[in-house]
Formats: sequence, structure tokens, C-alpha cells
Amino acid sequence: MSDSDTRSAVEAKTEPQSSRRADAPAHVGIIMDGNGRWAAQRSLPRFEGHRRGVEALRRAVRAAIDLGVRYLTIYSFSAENWTRPKDEVRGLMGLLKRFIRNDLADLHSNNVRIRIIGDRERLPSDIGPLLTEAEEVTRGNRGLVLIIAFNYGGRQEIVEAARALALDAAAGRLDPAAIDVAMFERRLSTAGLPDPDLVIRTSGEQRLSNFLPWQAAYSEFVFLSVLWPDFDKSSFEEALAEYGRRERRFGGIGVATLAQKTAS
Ligand code: FPP
Repeated sequence: MSDSDTRSAVEAKTEPQSSRRADAPAHVGIIMDGNGRWAAQRSLPRFEGHRRGVEALRRAVRAAIDLGVRYLTIYSFSAENWTRPKDEVRGLMGLLKRFIRNDLADLHSNNVRIRIIGDRERLPSDIGPLLTEAEEVTRGNRGLVLIIAFNYGGRQEIVEAARALALDAAAGRLDPAAIDVAMFERRLSTAGLPDPDLVIRTSGEQRLSNFLPWQAAYSEFVFLSVLWPDFDKSSFEEALAEYGRRERRFGGIGVATLAQKTAS
């Protein structure tokens, strides 16, 4: 294990001063893409890209706290990532275990609350208890909420919610006519969490890849060219600055247009 593997996860307490932004999005989702290309550019094995990706994740958590983000959702392993070579899948499982084992105490002492979304059923048997422990230990924390999407697929999540509602309806516990957006949302793994305001994807790719498709219905998207292992606080700030320039209308007509209309 290298020194960087054992380095503190957050170290936020040691930041000289906070660079909290008044207009920071409450919830940021990150699609951490480009580990493989980062490694290929250096003629390194793909795993090295993922390992360096964990270091970038630590920087991202630190930056989120420092910039005043309240919820950070990271796409660590998608339901479709099982199609990768076996040794890469094994490597990613190992990195998750190591991340929880090495960084849990540090995240906890920095008041981070951990929540896991995704299907835990198909995971190796030693991972489930670790994930539960991370959630239990940090349950009372009131700082950053770090949501780890692991073995997560948005379509699968929506199907699960629909199935749960259908079962309730079939059993006579629920009137299908009463199903609405709010009721549906309560059946999603993100129940109780605000929708992401901003979704960042690194590596220049511009797609959602089954990441929070329901929840991101009105998110702003920022695509950065940086490969994930090189992501740092300045990348995060760049994304927040771009977000700050957006006007969110949620299907309405926007504040400026509304003011114009009221004045005329
Ligand atoms: C996408 O890059 C990245 C992933 C599929 C895994 C993301 C995982 C990490 C950042 C580290 C693991 C963190 C935890 C907590 C387990 P890619 O491999 O698809 O890159 P490429 O498109 O350049 O090949």
C-alpha cells in the first residue's frame, strides 16, 4: 500500500480558511470518469488510474466541505460496470473496501455522514457489512452528506420503486390513483435527499450513463475535460463558477424575464 492510500480522507480541519461560496449548490453529483485514459496515457495498468482516482475522491470530499456543498453523490461503480474484466471489477471492490476501512474514522471526525445507494445484494459478502457500518457510525453527523453510488443503476432503481408500488397496489394497500411524484420519490434509494443541483462529469464525455436519471431531471450539467485522477479543488471551483452563471428555470420563465414582464 502506498503512502497516499493511508493519507487522511478529509483533512478539512487543517484547511487554512474556508472558501465557502454563498451560491454553492446544495447537492453535487459527480461522474468520476477518465481513470482508464489517465493510466493509458502513462502506460500504467488501469487499476493505477482507479487507485489515483481514490486520491482525487479524497480531494473532492475535502473541497466539497470547504466550498459549502451539503450533499455530494459520487458514482463509484455502476450496475453496468460488471461487464468489465474480472480483475478490474475485483480491483474496484477492493478500493471501496480500502476506502471505507482507511477513511471512515477520518470522515467521521470531520462530521461527514455516509449514505450508500445501489444494489447491495450482488456484492461480495464482506462488503455489505462494511457499508452498513459506515452508515451506522456516521448516522448522527450533520456535516457533508457523502452518498456513495455503488452497484447503482438509475433505471434499475426506478423499476424497483415501480415494483414496490405495484406490489402494494396488488395487495390492496395502495390505491393506484394515489400514486404521484412525491409518493414515487419516497420509494427511491435517494428518499429524503434533495435532487442534485449540479452534475459534474470529468474526462470530456457528455452523457448521464444511468446516474440519477430521475433525480437529475432539473440538474445543471457541467462537463470538464480533466481526467478524474487529476481532479482537484480548482476543478471543483471551475464547475461551481460555471454553475453560478446558469439560470435555473425549472420549466418556468426565469427571474429576469418575470421581472421584465411585471415592469411592463
Ligand atoms: C470511470 O473511469 C470510473 C469508474 C468506473 C470507477 C470510479 C472509481 C473511482 C474513482 C475509484 C473508486 C472509488 C471508490 C470509493 C470505490 P473509466 O475507468 O471508465 O475511465 P476511462 O473511460 O478512461 O476508461
